Amino acid sequence: MSAWILALATILVAILIYQTIKFITHRFSSSIPLPPGPRPWPIIGNLPHMGPVPHHALAALARTHGPLMHLRLGFVDTMVASSAAVAQQFLKVHDVNFSNRPPNAGAKYMAYNYNDLVFAPYGPRWRLLRKITSTHMFSGKAMNDFRHIRQEEVARLTHNLASSSPKAVNLGQLLNVCTTNGIARVLLGRRVFDDGNGGCDPRAEEFKSMVVELMVLAGVFNIGDFIPALEWLDLQGVQAKMKKLHKRFDAFLGSIVEEHKQGCSDKSESHQDLLTTLLSLEDDDGTKLTHTEIKALLLNMFAAGTDTTSSTIEWAISEIIKNPRIQAQVQEELDSVVGRDTLVTELDLAHLPYLEAVVKETFRLHPSTPLSLPRVASESCEIFNYHIPKGATLLVNIWAISRDPKEWADPLEFRPERFLPGGEKAHVDVKGNDFEVIPFGSGRRICAGMSLGVRMVQLVTATLVHAFDWELENGLNPEKLNMDEAYGLTLQRAAPLTVHPRVRLSPLVYSP
Ligand code: HEM
Repeated sequence: MSAWILALATILVAILIYQTIKFITHRFSSSIPLPPGPRPWPIIGNLPHMGPVPHHALAALARTHGPLMHLRLGFVDTMVASSAAVAQQFLKVHDVNFSNRPPNAGAKYMAYNYNDLVFAPYGPRWRLLRKITSTHMFSGKAMNDFRHIRQEEVARLTHNLASSSPKAVNLGQLLNVCTTNGIARVLLGRRVFDDGNGGCDPRAEEFKSMVVELMVLAGVFNIGDFIPALEWLDLQGVQAKMKKLHKRFDAFLGSIVEEHKQGCSDKSESHQDLLTTLLSLEDDDGTKLTHTEIKALLLNMFAAGTDTTSSTIEWAISEIIKNPRIQAQVQEELDSVVGRDTLVTELDLAHLPYLEAVVKETFRLHPSTPLSLPRVASESCEIFNYHIPKGATLLVNIWAISRDPKEWADPLEFRPERFLPGGEKAHVDVKGNDFEVIPFGSGRRICAGMSLGVRMVQLVTATLVHAFDWELENGLNPEKLNMDEAYGLTLQRAAPLTVHPRVRLSPLVYSP
């Protein structure tokens, strides 16, 4: 037994020495310096600097070391971009070089071993998956074809909120049912959760908690990703949790695909859903899309597309409740453009500039993926006279960039007016071209579902503010509303938003 332990320890030490030498040789092979950064510990490097909320810790470090920072996480060189100018260099000027994502346990154990779209290597398969989702879900035509689905789901949400009044509701849960069913109807041709009587399907609660767990696990800085020799030890127990969660997701997705193949799902839509298209690609030519790739793509759509959107809306409503002046102004705009006898439709959105500014301001202060998704340098390059070595991981601190006092006046203040004519950022949008606010990332690997994300956040926020006045549970003063963040890969509210909705439109509007 002791011989085994000795052998194992020897192998481990040999691997660590090999990696250290490789790392040091590699690091000093360029005459241009690496960007500045905090001093690393031996072996673990700067992993202890990441703290419990990494986007906060990295923002604080950037205040000392600057907007282009080098950290050594275990054996992995990591570049952190914390200003608009630096982000633009990586995501625009050097976009192609940073179009891959680094290897990580989340992709391996939860995303079907990179067989999905989010972690697919940049190349023909990534292009195919992107094209399929763009054509069938996110193009201008697809967005118009599915407009009625989004509006129907939002009308259901409104009806359920009205019928639960005056009881307090957990708004995040209901928003998640709404966004998940909206996506499910496009993907599968049917809803997946009940929402009757203002209540919430227990399966929906379980599903949301699975998505949140996935985001939390994907957001952990897993030691094995940075010190490969230690991966097998799974020191934080993260990989074990990922494998367990993956089994639950796989069972959920596998049963959806099987039901769909047997034709026994109660499809209620007239359009051809995405899963039917994907299955036909599998049938036509088995080499085009495998069964695993189909499940992985469904996982991406459900995981990346539900909680990101619903938690952004939850933040928007929280900010509006906290700022009664803003609530009054949004309601005034809606009453004058839409009136009080009907719900908002997507065609109204173009005529609601103040609402649009409120949504932009929410994306700025509460970007749902605060450190974006990591990228990796395919080749060495030079940025602002610093050496960026091949294989370096790139983290873009979207959260810090959109709170940068050099870019934003009173950056912590929720002030939609900054995006209106005469405001400091009147012409700035959130769609990846203006680097001071990039909630969807930028470049080739910008969020695939951006058009849907923006549209849903605008439509639901407008509808909720138009159709209801909001009171906090137990008569809590809106100014005291807790706005703390909990951290995963996505930005959740630390305390769920529990509110009493009070109807404010003509009663017919709320009927089913
Ligand atoms: C509020 C809504 C959303 C936000 C803030 C958001 C944010 C992001 C961010 C920051 C990235 C990484 C981009 C990069 O690497 O530069 C991303 C990627 C992605 N998002 Fe979203 N997202 C949202 C909604 C959605 C929706 C609705 C879907 C699909 C239904 C979706 C699907 C994806 C996919 C597939 C990727 C990976 C793209 C690739 O690697 O090529 N997202 N998202």
